[in-house]
Amino acid sequence: MLLINFKTYEEAEGEKAVEIAKIAAAISKESSKRVAVVPNFVDLKEVSEIIETFAPHVDPLEPGSHTGHTIPAIVDFLKGVVLNHSEYPMLIKDIEAAVQMAKEEGLETVICANNVAVARAVATFEPTYVAVEPPGLIGGDVSVSTAKPDIIKEAVKVVKPKSKLLVGAGVKTKKDVEKAVELGADGVFVASGVVKAKDVRLTIKELVDGLGR
Ligand code: G3P
Repeated sequence: MLLINFKTYEEAEGEKAVEIAKIAAAISKESSKRVAVVPNFVDLKEVSEIIETFAPHVDPLEPGSHTGHTIPAIVDFLKGVVLNHSEYPMLIKDIEAAVQMAKEEGLETVICANNVAVARAVATFEPTYVAVEPPGLIGGDVSVSTAKPDIIKEAVKVVKPKSKLLVGAGVKTKKDVEKAVELGADGVFVASGVVKAKDVRLTIKELVDGLGR
């Protein structure tokens, strides 16, 4: 899978979020490869009508009086949720509870891990995916596949086969994706490489090509 995180980039909000979602959906259809997106909360509803969409975070709370929180039961129209992104870290007990609640709502779960030890810990919750992203490489030009291939190899051992493995941070090219897949990842988690690309369509296409046949 290619999972594209829109974060809070201006290049990927509102109409631009919709535009990127349409491009990604078309490429996913043409290639028969799974492409999904993680837009800002405000754009979730509209984007989810175009492509498989994940919420960037949820708190493990039941419906009720929780001003400012977003909860699994409210995003149950989506494909899934992302938890514990390094830009939105969570307590381990909250990750465990949120995974459980998301599963009960029929949502897929992507738990982020900043290293192999955390990947090992969160894999015990059996999410759909564990996404390993070394924080120091996020938003940079050197990919996890190039700078930290050993992390991918080690993560494969602790995450699979119960969950699938995504890797991310600095992924920008077809080669980065090919290398990640060659090392055992099931896909990549990408943000700036797509949302800040000069040619978003071409970039998504290349990244999808990197996933292989
Ligand atoms: O969620 C994916 C992300 O943290 C990777 O960011 O900009 O390095 O692709 P980026």
